[in-house]
Amino acid sequence: MTLNKSTSLAIIALVASVWMGCSSKEDRDKYDTYYGSGSKVREETALADIQNYKKEAAATEAAAPAPAVTKETPAADSTQKTPEAPAEAKPAKKAVPAEVSALLNKYACFACHQPYEKLIGPAYSEVAKRKYTPDMIVELVHSPKPEHWPGYPPMAPLAHVPKADIIIIANWINTL
Ligand code: HEC
Repeated sequence: MTLNKSTSLAIIALVASVWMGCSSKEDRDKYDTYYGSGSKVREETALADIQNYKKEAAATEAAAPAPAVTKETPAADSTQKTPEAPAEAKPAKKAVPAEVSALLNKYACFACHQPYEKLIGPAYSEVAKRKYTPDMIVELVHSPKPEHWPGYPPMAPLAHVPKADIIIIANWINTL
């Protein structure tokens, strides 16, 4: 039984491959009929074009090698130094601790606040500059004062968020 099955499978595979082979051969024949010599000529001219282009490029490079190199080297040096400095300053952006991140997700604070970027609401790093005490932040989450943030939409009062959880968030905000 199994032998029969596998032989018939093999036959199917064989037939399929022969058919595919034929059809692709037919396709190739058709392709040659329509495009055969023409495509070869085009291929050759394209190749010649590429070779010419390469030669021209090499010639222009050879014509002005010294200024290109001397100009590039100092420029590359200075561009390397400039991004390095902010990159060194960046580690100030700390990753959000897992515990805080879990709370910000749970209460969807992340939907409107990012640690360092303005979203719907101000970045927490901006809030940190206000130097609120954790208790004040609890108050502000439970009953926001939109007048503190002109140009922002008012934050909805989030009275359901437990004080203990806001304290954890608030302590973290003040580390930013
Ligand atoms: C629907 C969007 C939204 C959500 C969700 C949201 N906020 Fe806000 N938040 C704002 C906006 C807008 C402001 C600025 C305007 C304001 O204070 O009303 C703000 C301001 C704040 C401030 C500054 C308050 C002040 O008066 O300086 C704190 C702190 C704050 N949010 C914390 C949180 C915390 C913590 C959560 C999650 C428990 C949260 N927000 C969820 C939009 C949101």
